[in-house]
Amino acid sequence: MAATPTPADKFTFGLWTIGYNGADPFGGPTRPHLDTVHAVEKLAELGAYGLTFHDDDLFAFGSTDAERQHEIDRLKGALSATGLVVPMITTNLFSQPVFKDGGFTSNDRAVRRFALRKVLRNLDLAAELGATTFVMWGGREGAEYDAAKDIRSALSRYKEAVDLLSQYVLDKGYDIRFAIEPKPNEPRGDILLPTLGHALAFINSLEHPELVGLNPEVGHEQMAGLNFASGIAQALYHGKLFHIDLNGQRGIKYDQDLVFGHGDLHNAFALVDLLENGGVNGGPSYDGPRHFDYKPSRTEDETGVWDSAAANMRTYLLLKERAAAFRADPEVQEALKASKVAELAQPTLAEGEGYEQLLADDSAWNLDTGAYLGGKGFGFVRLQQLATEHLMGAR
Ligand code: GCO
Ligand code: MN
Ligand code: MN
Repeated sequence: MAATPTPADKFTFGLWTIGYNGADPFGGPTRPHLDTVHAVEKLAELGAYGLTFHDDDLFAFGSTDAERQHEIDRLKGALSATGLVVPMITTNLFSQPVFKDGGFTSNDRAVRRFALRKVLRNLDLAAELGATTFVMWGGREGAEYDAAKDIRSALSRYKEAVDLLSQYVLDKGYDIRFAIEPKPNEPRGDILLPTLGHALAFINSLEHPELVGLNPEVGHEQMAGLNFASGIAQALYHGKLFHIDLNGQRGIKYDQDLVFGHGDLHNAFALVDLLENGGVNGGPSYDGPRHFDYKPSRTEDETGVWDSAAANMRTYLLLKERAAAFRADPEVQEALKASKVAELAQPTLAEGEGYEQLLADDSAWNLDTGAYLGGKGFGFVRLQQLATEHLMGAR
């Protein structure tokens, strides 16, 4: 079975994921600092395609220009030695005390102006490294208390920020698009643009909506009790799946950032099937990086870090293989037909038909609705069982 990753699979990892030191609100680090060059070498060895990072992951906040450049040069050296690429960059507008009420939407105007400067500087770095996607996760853009935040003003300031950044990218001629990453809560009690749907609506209010899409994360939609694969299908429908954060989450609770597939495995199967087989003529529906945004559990030592990194990629490839077997199974094809899945692609109205023709069509009104009581079952459960058996390797 071809479950060994290669760069052609386009698997990427955040520097903050494998570099997570295990600190949580109840305890400090359980692992020492992970060196960037070592991380790049290990990822290359494991078959990854690329690395992503926040500015502050690579060089500490408040670094001098020389310190910053030193880290950038070390990264560049590791990239050219290994062939790894940096397809996405993002900015940390959440860790430092200055961002305690957010970056783009802090009530403090001076903080908002500083946040914009930090992002503009990081956009130059993104262009320099050839990154074409710039993620915006607004973890601190939100509130705990209703009276404390004027949400409509906050959204206006968010728009003001994204419009300015879009104009910058256009004026500089950078080949960069923005991807907003929704999350319902954590670290804020309530975060702005909490779900993929909220973000899609917001994008429509922007000056350059064509430059802005989504970076949905498995666990974040699931923290809101939503179906991730279904949300991704809607993002694709709107042409807004610019990037994706893969991980695992077990239900509505704190953000777990588990290994991909270590949460809702059925939904992970549906997701991989959609990404790999949901495009035109059964090909892929998305060709960007398969980005893992997970946290190696704080119980793990460095061996556990690399085991978990490899697990993300292996699980994805196994699901890809399982989804291909599902699609190739004649019984599945027959069950899909019995469930009329393809019939939904057929327009409800005939070519050129309008309401007048529909009103004139007596057969539409004379449908034998009684036949649906006790008959005309859709067979969806049988289809789901076939998917389950393929997922389990039982077929
Ligand atoms: C989370 C988020 C973050 C963002 C990342 C990009 O788990 O809450 O995934 O990890 O993706 O910080 O800005
Ligand atoms: Mn997360
Ligand atoms: Mn993420």
